[in-house]
Amino acid sequence: MIRIDAVTKRYPDGTVAVDRLSLEIPDRAITVLVGPSGCGKTTTLRMINRMVEPSEGTILLDGVDIQQQPVNTLRRSMGYVIQNAGLFQHRTILDNIATVPRLLGWGKEKSRARARELMERVGLDGALAKRYPYQLSGGQQQRVGVARALAADPPVLLMDEPFSAVDPVVRKGLQDELLRIQEELGKTIVFVTHDIDEAVKLGTMVAVMRTGGHLAQFAPPAELLTDPADAFVEDFLGADRGIRRLSFFSSAGLDLLTGPIVAVDASAEQIAAAGRAGAPCLLVVDTDGRPLGWGEPDELTAGSIATDGLLSHGRPFTAGTDSLRAALDCAVLSPTGWAVAVDGDGRATGVVSQASIGEAIRGAHAGRAAAGTAEKVAP
Ligand SMILES: Nc1ncnc2c1ncn2[C@@H]1O[C@H](COP(=O)(O)OP(=O)(O)OP(=O)(O)O)[C@@H](O)[C@H]1O
Ligand SMILES: [Mg+2]
Repeated sequence: MIRIDAVTKRYPDGTVAVDRLSLEIPDRAITVLVGPSGCGKTTTLRMINRMVEPSEGTILLDGVDIQQQPVNTLRRSMGYVIQNAGLFQHRTILDNIATVPRLLGWGKEKSRARARELMERVGLDGALAKRYPYQLSGGQQQRVGVARALAADPPVLLMDEPFSAVDPVVRKGLQDELLRIQEELGKTIVFVTHDIDEAVKLGTMVAVMRTGGHLAQFAPPAELLTDPADAFVEDFLGADRGIRRLSFFSSAGLDLLTGPIVAVDASAEQIAAAGRAGAPCLLVVDTDGRPLGWGEPDELTAGSIATDGLLSHGRPFTAGTDSLRAALDCAVLSPTGWAVAVDGDGRATGVVSQASIGEAIRGAHAGRAAAGTAEKVAP
């Protein structure tokens, strides 16, 4: 565990970048430092590997004051990733990743073998190994940065806005990859961002900082969204925190109706029965059970329903895997106001109305108040 204990950083010009900060950073989890520009995030991160020395206070790594450790030993136990990756432009991708193993005295072949293994781990095509950084996209360069930081298998990764310079789609891919790597390797990650959505998505714990290097709140993301400590945190979280909080509730408990589902070759009796099942429209599915679209019961031709007249079924959600937020989004976007639930193979498992999702949301909030914090589910 990394323990930051009443740490202050005053730069020589008198700027107090961090003010009596105390944080306990848990092992094998992602702790995010988030806050507006200039609030002291980078300074805090750099004090952990002694690129910046604190003016007051102590930082303990597994109970040992980091001041007592040789700085090289300390830094070797901590990978460091920055925005734009900071790669060596004159070295190939493979040699960039192999940098630290080489510094540690590993042989060339062993270092390169390790680098190849890491390219695969971070989702980089091995064919890129011989290229130079300028021949890669921004997203690929960030992956190289992550691979390089992981090369000597340090227990700790320090990441300073590593994904800020790439577009939202690539960024989402990098975030998902980081979550996967964290799950596989169990690193202790300290991640700096100014993007609250990124903080909520990645963080096991989130430290919200405010200008002047003060800690405003330190909590798991679900708790942050439920119970912001003050107006600053609430404002920083943004207007739709109630909706975003739904990401932490599973759609597993939704009351799905199967009655209003009919196969494309349904008989007149089946269509009539489905019409009495409680939904204004029927969901027509193909012979494999995959959704085709919505239709009104009296407009469907028995035996062979014409699919070109159906309303779009929109994007379905995966029942149980997706969150209540995803289910609500599907219902809001659906032309009928009803969301379609599917299983992992895309087969319809039921339909659910906005009103029913609303009830589940109220139930989840009530249950949550009793049960404490939530597990993260797919957004
Ligand atoms: N070497 C330095 N000398 C003087 N002041 C500094 C120095 N480095 C940073 N600062 C100041 O310390 C404060 C915190 O800076 P820091 O870089 O930690 O912020 P940050 O939260 O990482 O911001 P950003 O989101 O813009 O990266 C700022 O007011 C900054 O101007
Ligand atoms: Mg910074």
